[in-house]
Amino acid sequence: MEPLRLGIAGLGTVGAGLVSVVQNNAALLRSRCGRDVQIVAVNARDRARDRGVDLSDYRWVDDARDLIGADDIDVVVELIGGEDGIALELVEGALKAGQHVVTANKALLAVHGTRLAQAADTTGVHVGFEAAVAGGIPIIKGLREGLAGNRITRLYGILNGTSNYIMTAMRDDGSPFDEVLAEAQRLGYAEADPALDIGGGDAAHKLAILASLAFGRPVDFDNVHVEGIQAITPMDIEFAREFGFCVKLLGIAQVSEHGVEQRVHPCMIPQTGPIAPVDGVFNAVVVEGDAVDVATFIGRGAGAGPTASAVVADIVDIARGLRLPFYNVPVSDLVSTPHAPIERRHGAYYIRLMVIDRPGVIAEVSAILRDEDISVESLLQRGRDPEEVVPLVMTTHEADEDAMLRALERFGDLDAVSETPLTIRIEDL
Ligand code: HSE
Repeated sequence: MEPLRLGIAGLGTVGAGLVSVVQNNAALLRSRCGRDVQIVAVNARDRARDRGVDLSDYRWVDDARDLIGADDIDVVVELIGGEDGIALELVEGALKAGQHVVTANKALLAVHGTRLAQAADTTGVHVGFEAAVAGGIPIIKGLREGLAGNRITRLYGILNGTSNYIMTAMRDDGSPFDEVLAEAQRLGYAEADPALDIGGGDAAHKLAILASLAFGRPVDFDNVHVEGIQAITPMDIEFAREFGFCVKLLGIAQVSEHGVEQRVHPCMIPQTGPIAPVDGVFNAVVVEGDAVDVATFIGRGAGAGPTASAVVADIVDIARGLRLPFYNVPVSDLVSTPHAPIERRHGAYYIRLMVIDRPGVIAEVSAILRDEDISVESLLQRGRDPEEVVPLVMTTHEADEDAMLRALERFGDLDAVSETPLTIRIEDL
């Protein structure tokens, strides 16, 4: 059988990892695919850079777009990144030219996924994007194949390795935020712009992709509610521990009576839950379906090896002849079900106020909670110096999000409250 010929655009952490896996596992891949997997051409910005892999056998392409429609390229592997620009031109051009595409680019798919799926439907090619979500975890395969018989009702998980790594280090060693982030960057976990990791944008890209695949609706990134981990302190992680919770940045997508919810924000989850022990750079995705009940996937969510593992899995699929619709259904079958805004959430909350320790503060706070019909489950104040600003922390019973937002605004207006009030949603997951 003819070899499967690859053109790789982008030779960063993942690209170099991919070249290394294809070279090191050549015989294994030949045996598993029934044909050779050959790298024919490579592209990157800087030809001279040492990437720790031998590229001398491959054609060097200065402009990634020269891979589009090339006679000797069956699969364009896009590892450039970015939601627009060359990555979009390359992927869209390749799909229209009838080339298969493998990409790790979650931003691109979160923003332009439906349009790209349409292009793939038209030419009948396969788009592999396993590496775009949760690194080495085969969650796209899980949804497109393993769980294809299910009506999915909810999925949630830890979708950003860098922020999980940072929060784990804050909890375990009290390491400074910047130091841990620098280490995540050194290890190749973080995005080119790490604000995407910390601010929740990267997890939101991944959640949008998963939600459209799971619920059969056009990708809807603009309606993902996104909050990052910037406001979380070691003190909150410690209070969470005292209340029996741990803090995780979660992506949650579910079908509710109000529509499809998509949200990324820090959560407190019980220490006894299935993904509570998932620490460091590890990701986890839990999928709930009408037939399977629940399926949990855990693995490394970032880094050269795990991400290259996912890219190679897609290449193996194409080499074996697998052709699946991008969203598991033709684009024409996607249904634009309404989305449910975050204000419709109903659940429990952790609240931390930094207050001046003087008589009457709790009465003022309680009055606001009473007005907003929010019932306190537990309350804790530390410190006793009247000159000192001390944390006043509470957990609540289930309350409406819009009531909580009003309460937070009013807490912030109190003279005794010295910092922007913090809330973390408590999820029974
Ligand atoms: N920056 C991402 C993360 C890499 O930390 O999870 C994988 O998408």
